[in-house]
Amino acid sequence: MKLQEKLKQVQSEKRALLATNFYNLETCKGILVAAKEMRQPVILQLTKSSIDYMGLKTAVQIARTLSEQFGVESWVHLDHCEDIDLIKKSLEAGFDSVMIDASDNTFDENIRITREVVALAKMYGADVEAELGCVPKLGRELDTGAFTDPGEAKEFVEKTGVNALAVAIGSKHGFYKGEPKLDLERLKMISQATDVCLVLHGGSGLPAASLKRAIELGITKVNVATETKDTFTRTIKQVLARSSEIDLRKTFPKAIDAVKELIIEKLRIISLVTETRSK
Ligand code: 13P
Repeated sequence: MKLQEKLKQVQSEKRALLATNFYNLETCKGILVAAKEMRQPVILQLTKSSIDYMGLKTAVQIARTLSEQFGVESWVHLDHCEDIDLIKKSLEAGFDSVMIDASDNTFDENIRITREVVALAKMYGADVEAELGCVPKLGRELDTGAFTDPGEAKEFVEKTGVNALAVAIGSKHGFYKGEPKLDLERLKMISQATDVCLVLHGGSGLPAASLKRAIELGITKVNVATETKDTFTRTIKQVLARSSEIDLRKTFPKAIDAVKELIIEKLRIISLVTETRSK
């Protein structure tokens, strides 16, 4: 099933898809083993840094080959990209979906750039996600003045034709310092203004209750990156601190397993799965 159809399906069921970033074969494997056990589909995301690290074709092949190996329905998505050239290369490499992040520009300029990407992606049958308002990037702080305006969201979607829209409602990328608080009233208004699939960025560290409420109010894609990266790295550190093992085939599986457990937990919350895990 195409990603857009799947997002529309989960939207009608008031559920969401988990979209998580992967950084190497091991994190991708942890995510997919979790998805297999939970019998859930998953969006596998790549940023420019991960593409630079793995290589574009290699990264896509890792995602596709492992998804096939574990029998998981998945889609490859380009996360936060401002570079049209990389978007083109990603579409050529077979990405199912791309995110153009022109949110630092004025409203009109964001529309202009996003329209260009929608026209380009159409030639490849791929989906486009854009961002309106500003979800703070790593290390930046929340600015309530940059939250998404519901009226602008409606206009933006109509003028660009995007499939998915990342909204600024109080989440941020990276770990939260205090208790995160989502502006759910605003989310409700955005959902009423447009039926585009809404995306919640900054899923790491958001309490389960907030995530569930946001999904009830119209979020259909939840992005998680920081926790996946952190879980993998912290586990490797712990394993190496306790032993002098140099065989990475013995140390890495523990980190893969930790990523798997994290993703199982996220899938339980985000996909509203109640059934037990398969073995
Ligand atoms: P976190 O890194 O905060 O989980 O955010 C992920 C994200 O939104 C990727 O676009």
